[in-house]
Amino acid sequence: MYRKSKWLVLSGWWLVVALALIVMAQEPHRNVEAQKLKNPEPKNAETLEAGKKLFARHCASCHGPQAKGDGGMALAGGTPSDLTDETWDYGSTDGEIFVAIREGVSADMLAYKDKLNDKQIWQVVTFIRSLAPKAKDEKP
Ligand code: HEC
Repeated sequence: MYRKSKWLVLSGWWLVVALALIVMAQEPHRNVEAQKLKNPEPKNAETLEAGKKLFARHCASCHGPQAKGDGGMALAGGTPSDLTDETWDYGSTDGEIFVAIREGVSADMLAYKDKLNDKQIWQVVTFIRSLAPKAKDEKP
């Protein structure tokens, strides 16, 4: 009897852990530190133009010319994110997008810190944000 109930308690715990993992896997990977970063680039035509050019050169092959995720290329077989929709797996603030680009997030989405300087990354972020609506859970 005792052994059996211990089993039940143990398997109950595993169920809780499994459910927690499933929930966590569906939550976007929010980056609280990155959320604090402020985009230093002014939101003007010059920044957008610079960001657009950088995007066309470095990002469009995977993310597509309009950033809809339809560029067709991927290094490790992943699906390039649609950067114009409301889904932001790595966070939707300027700072989170900045860190995702600078540090990379996967074997497909590599770090850009050696290819682009911070100013250029912010320009790309500003350009992307001009295409994309804010996520539903966006805090001001
Ligand atoms: C070799 C293909 C490739 C290139 C080039 C590439 N990306 Fe990505 N990117 C991906 C893939 C695939 C993902 C999905 C990552 C994942 O979840 O594994 C991604 C994810 C992202 C994300 C996260 C989106 C989210 O939902 O949070 C951002 C932002 C992003 N890319 C921006 C860029 C920018 C800006 C550039 C150019 C500087 C770029 N990417 C270049 C393939 C690429």
